[in-house]
Amino acid sequence: MITHAMIEEKVSDLEEKYVDFMVTHFAQWKVFAEATQQILDGEEVNEKEIPEAYILEFRMLREIVKMEATGKFDWNNPVLRESFAQMAQSPYYRLWGETIVKSSLRLAALTGVKTLVEIGAGRGNLTEIMLQQIATQNLSVKLMVTDANPIVLESMEKMKVTYPQIHLETLLWDIKEAPPKELLSRIQHPCLSYERASIMYTTIPAIENIAHFSDIVVLGDMFNYTGELYAYDEISKKIGSSPLFYRDMKPILERCFRDHFMFDLRAQKKLNYPSTTILIALK
Ligand SMILES: C[S@@+](CC[C@H](N)C(=O)[O-])C[C@H]1O[C@@H](n2cnc3c(N)ncnc32)[C@H](O)[C@@H]1O
Repeated sequence: MITHAMIEEKVSDLEEKYVDFMVTHFAQWKVFAEATQQILDGEEVNEKEIPEAYILEFRMLREIVKMEATGKFDWNNPVLRESFAQMAQSPYYRLWGETIVKSSLRLAALTGVKTLVEIGAGRGNLTEIMLQQIATQNLSVKLMVTDANPIVLESMEKMKVTYPQIHLETLLWDIKEAPPKELLSRIQHPCLSYERASIMYTTIPAIENIAHFSDIVVLGDMFNYTGELYAYDEISKKIGSSPLFYRDMKPILERCFRDHFMFDLRAQKKLNYPSTTILIALK
């Protein structure tokens, strides 16, 4: 039986690299939190006061507050689009994605996983990292990519051309709903599901829907570990992101999985940070 200790040993180098980065990168998270309170209160904040690690997120949140004030929210707002696009390519996002993918593939090798399922793939930033890794490691595993938005189907058609050797399938699935029969019938077990920043746009019971068919999950999201909320959480709610409190997730995780743990708990403790960002659970 695969144990927590065996997994920790398998991913210890990844954990060390990721946590070391987080501890430096997010060291000034409280300065950012205070600045988001100021913009929420309608005060001007000079960008020079914002720690570099947070500048893109700050611009995005400031734009959301501005749009809220004018009553005209628009996903196509150029500042918002540019900030999202740049964030997806930033060093932290890149490392977050690589850590989710590499940990997933190490666990897949340990447990003989036959199907990988990506949840909420969107434009495929995380999928691209997965495909690169599968190709580099020459793995024969099926990758099923899902999202509630048909944009994913478009993104994946391009990826299929770039990685013709990989067994890549797509399926539309809203994770607020039970997994469709078609998804269940296409999965070969053991199955590992992974994601980044998708559950925060749904609700915690989505975890139960994912757990329904997943033997292992590697979830990369903002999991609120301490229960404290800051102004940036309040602003993010305006674009449909909800805080995922660990205290609410824990009973579901305990019901659905044999074991679970927060991969980056060391960073949360070191920084006294409200969130953890990668969760591993297995049946
Ligand atoms: C911030 S994007 C993250 C995209 C990708 N995972 C990444 O890391 O680049 C959030 C994604 O979650 C998807 N999403 C939101 N609500 C969803 C739902 N109920 N079911 C499935 N996917 C959903 C969105 O369509 C979007 O692609």
